[in-house]
Amino acid sequence: MSYLTQNDLSKEDINRLIGSQAYRQSTHPDHNRLQTLVRDWFVKEYDKATPNTPWVNLGDCLLVGEGNLSFARSLTDKPKTGVTGMVASTYETGNAVSDEASKNAKHLKQKGIAVLYGIDARKLEQKLKGIKFDTIIFQFPNVGSRDPKYGHNPNHILLRGFLKSAASYLKPDGRILVTTVNSPHYEGAFQVTEAAEFAGYKQPVSYSFDPDDFTGYVHTNTNDDDSALDNHAKFITWEFRLS
Ligand SMILES: C[S@@+](CC[C@H](N)C(=O)[O-])C[C@H]1O[C@@H](n2cnc3c(N)ncnc32)[C@H](O)[C@@H]1O
Repeated sequence: MSYLTQNDLSKEDINRLIGSQAYRQSTHPDHNRLQTLVRDWFVKEYDKATPNTPWVNLGDCLLVGEGNLSFARSLTDKPKTGVTGMVASTYETGNAVSDEASKNAKHLKQKGIAVLYGIDARKLEQKLKGIKFDTIIFQFPNVGSRDPKYGHNPNHILLRGFLKSAASYLKPDGRILVTTVNSPHYEGAFQVTEAAEFAGYKQPVSYSFDPDDFTGYVHTNTNDDDSALDNHAKFITWEFRLS
């Protein structure tokens, strides 16, 4: 017994340990060691069951507002994302996308992935019919303008419209992932919790996002090929599920 580490232990071993005198009696010389062993085993099991990232078990995915399509491409190359199918889309029409987007589209299509152009995330019903997804992803939504719409920040309107439209495209227990810069300014612009409530979702769960985890992902701005990410250090992915 003294050679065992928590890595060696099965669930049956743990049950046996919990039933042992050493575990139960605080006066037993092995009591503290076993208590620690069992506690650490459960912590490890819990971590396995609830990985602290939303980028697993993605299933059938729809990506909108993909710009140069490099995030879609990086997801398909990244191990352990659990992607089972993908539709990747850009807001720009086919003849307006960048050379980089065309190159990535070619790569995605070779893998059997559908690439759609001219998809408005606020009006998915215009182009998508009879299809549902496990995960719908919008990385760094941005309309590229600061002009208020209906008296609100235009990005707040974009997020609300997207969440509302995407709700009809989720499979049961499906989820939406939206990544933004993590700063009070962006939080104020998107008003994420209000948008969730408006569109019929539970309060979103947030995870920190590191672009470097996605090899080949080259974020680009809405109006040029630069990246606003260069000016920020912290990013956040919001996970939405329907109420
Ligand atoms: C900051 S860029 C991010 C691009 C890409 N997702 C990335 O992470 O590199 C914002 C993107 O949102 C897209 N966008 C703006 N309005 C949109 C809309 N109504 N529907 C879908 N995409 C939209 C733009 O075309 C642009 O590609």
